[in-house]
Amino acid sequence: MKNITVIGTGYVGLVSGAGLSDFGNKVICADIDKSKIKSLKAGIIPIYEPGLKEVVDRNVNNGRLTFTTDIPQAVRNSDVIFIGVGTPEGKNGEADLTAVFTVAELIGRNLDNYKVICTKSTVPIGTGTNLISIINKNKKQEVKFDYVSNPEFLREGAAVQDFLMPNRIVLGATSKKALQIMQDVYRPLYINETPIIYTDVPTAEMIKYASNAFLALKISYINEIANLCEAVGADVHVVAKAMGSDGRISPKFLHPGPGFGGSCFPKDTKALLSLSNALNEPMKTVEAAIATNDQQKVRMFNKLLNLLDNDIQGKTIAVLGLSFKQMTDDVRESASIVMISKIIDNDGLVNAYDPVAEENMKELYPNINYCSDWQEAVKDADAVVIMTEWHEFRGLDLVKIKLLVKTPIILDTRNILNIKDLITLGFKFDNVGRKSKN
Ligand code: UDX
Repeated sequence: MKNITVIGTGYVGLVSGAGLSDFGNKVICADIDKSKIKSLKAGIIPIYEPGLKEVVDRNVNNGRLTFTTDIPQAVRNSDVIFIGVGTPEGKNGEADLTAVFTVAELIGRNLDNYKVICTKSTVPIGTGTNLISIINKNKKQEVKFDYVSNPEFLREGAAVQDFLMPNRIVLGATSKKALQIMQDVYRPLYINETPIIYTDVPTAEMIKYASNAFLALKISYINEIANLCEAVGADVHVVAKAMGSDGRISPKFLHPGPGFGGSCFPKDTKALLSLSNALNEPMKTVEAAIATNDQQKVRMFNKLLNLLDNDIQGKTIAVLGLSFKQMTDDVRESASIVMISKIIDNDGLVNAYDPVAEENMKELYPNINYCSDWQEAVKDADAVVIMTEWHEFRGLDLVKIKLLVKTPIILDTRNILNIKDLITLGFKFDNVGRKSKN
C-alpha cells in the first residue's frame, strides 16, 4: 500500500482519492481551493455523488484520508502523485491544460525523491511527454521519477461504484517499476483480476478519448435513427432493443434522448476533433457526432414549439429536470440549458424543477421561476417538458398533471412516460422516436 497525494478535489480527484484510500492506501487530497478543503475537513462533500460521503467518512475515520491546501508538503510526503485537476474546453475546442501544467511545475519544484507521477485528468494525446519535460525543467534536485497515464472512466452519479468496481484499469507507463508500483496502488483490483491494460503513455491517453468519443458516436447514431423512426412511423425502443441483442453492438448507450451533455462527452469529442485536425488526420465521424448532438438539443425545442402550434410567447413551460442526466447535480452542457435559453429567447416563461440541480442552474439562469416540486412547476403550465430521467419523473402522476396544468401538453425528451396512458388521458404529446399521435 502506498502514500498517495491526489491533486484536485473535483469529481475525478475526490472520487479517486476516496476510492484509493478505500483500497488501503494512505491518501492526501490536496486542492488550492481553501473553501473546498474547509468543507471537506468539516465532512461536507461539495458535489452530489451517491455513496461518496460514506466512503469519505469511512476513510477519514480510519485515518487513511486527509485533506490539505499545502500541495508542496503533500507532494513531498507521497510515493505516488495523482493529477486530477480540471481540463476545461479552451477557446477553439481544444482542452485547456493550464491547471495541469501549473500542477506539473509544482510537482517538479517539490520533487525530493523517486516518485510516480500519474495523470487521471483527461488530457490530449501527447500531454504526458509535455508534463515529463515540465517536471524535469522545474526539478531542484537530481531525482528520478516515472510517469503514468491512468485515465478515469467514471460516470457521474455512479462514480463511486465505477471506481471501486471498474470494467478495466488502463496504465500507460514509462517504466516497469512504475507499473509495479501502480499494481500495488490498485492491489484489491489486481487480486480481483479486474482487467488491467498495460501500455505506453500515448496509447493510454488515446484509449480514453477513443472510448468517450465512441460512446458519443453511439448516442448520436441512435438519436438520428430515432429521428428517422419518427419520419417512418417506427418505434426506436424496439429498434434499439433488437440492435442491442447483437453482441457486436451491445444494448448500452443506445437510449435516444435530448442529446448528450456533461463534463466529458461534449468536451472530449471537441478536444479529439481539434487534435485530429491539428495533426491533419480529420475525424469526420466525431465531427458528425458533435453536429448531430447540437442539432438534437435544438430539435427538442422545435418539438415543443410544434406542440404549441408555434405560439410560445407569454406561455409558461414547466421544465422538469435540469441536470445533464439523472443522479447528478451537474448541469454542464445539459440539454436543458438549450431548452431554457430558447424558451426565454422566444418570450416564453420557465417554471423549473430539479431534485438536486437547482443551485447549479441558478448560476446560469438566476431569474427563471424555480419550484420546490414538480406539482408546483406544472401548475397552470401551458406545456410540460421532461429533460432529465430522474426516477421521480418516471412515475409522474399523469392524472394529477392533467388537473394542474392549463393545457395538457407534454414533451418527453427521455421517453420515460407511458404512451398508452398519455393517449387515454387525452394529452397532446411528443417524445424521441416513438409514436406521438393520438
Ligand atoms: C461519461 C463516461 O460514461 C465515463 O466513462 C467518462 O469517463 C466520463 O464521461 P458521464 O458524463 O458522467 O460519463 O455520463 P454518461 O452516463 O456517460 O452520460 C453522458 C450523456 O449521454 C448524458 O447526457 C446522458 O443522458 C447521455 N446518454 C447516455 C444518452 O443520451 N443515451 C444513452 O444511451 C446514454
